[in-house]
Amino acid sequence: MPAFAAPSPAPTSEAPRPLTPSPAAERAAPPRAVAAADSPAGTPASAVAHATTTVAPPQSSPTSSAPAATAVASLVPTPACGDEPTLPQTAGPFYTPNSPQRASLREPGIAGVPLTVTGLVVSTTCQPVAGALLDFWHCDSAGVYDNTGYRLRGHQFADGQGRLGLETIVPAVYPGHTSHIHGKVQAPNRPAPTTQLYFPDEPANRTDGIFRAALVMAVEDRADGKYGTFTFVLDLA
Ligand SMILES: [Fe+2]
Repeated sequence: MPAFAAPSPAPTSEAPRPLTPSPAAERAAPPRAVAAADSPAGTPASAVAHATTTVAPPQSSPTSSAPAATAVASLVPTPACGDEPTLPQTAGPFYTPNSPQRASLREPGIAGVPLTVTGLVVSTTCQPVAGALLDFWHCDSAGVYDNTGYRLRGHQFADGQGRLGLETIVPAVYPGHTSHIHGKVQAPNRPAPTTQLYFPDEPANRTDGIFRAALVMAVEDRADGKYGTFTFVLDLA
């Protein structure tokens, strides 16, 4: 049984417009069986894959030489809601529009550590965004994106209290980018900002120039997988 209430489909009157298709330049990319860095379209992956000038502060790690207290203090706490909307990030080259509506991406044959993500979509004034559209996509446990179908891709609608629930697996770290989940979050009849969610205690975070601590989920390890929580904040002013 899912650990969350399945989001209710948005009423027809609130059905958002389809998410903006990827630019033609991105869609015209060559076959992408293996993930590359999520560089903006037209930017060579190598230009950002190992960027070090904007690396986020290191996370606490058993192998870190920095005092744990210093490392923790340097992290930006994941905001619940407030003045700032969720930090936008690139969609990367692997977004596919018109994903199926589903809360679980765990299709038969999907390998990997089970991951359940729950959370909220709220406004910067901390009001729940009922019926928000959330479109998630990520690579598999081997770092591979499905760029011909919709494996590990799906959208859902937040329920009347802005709650979301996603069942999937933990995506792999791939060359140039730490473990992450892409998401577009759209209030009804509003733009659809794109962001990415990250995992705490992932060593690859420390060497990833795209990683941002503010987008780290709170993750709990349980016997049956990982359970993450995150609150998306939309600017609806
Ligand atoms: Fe990605």
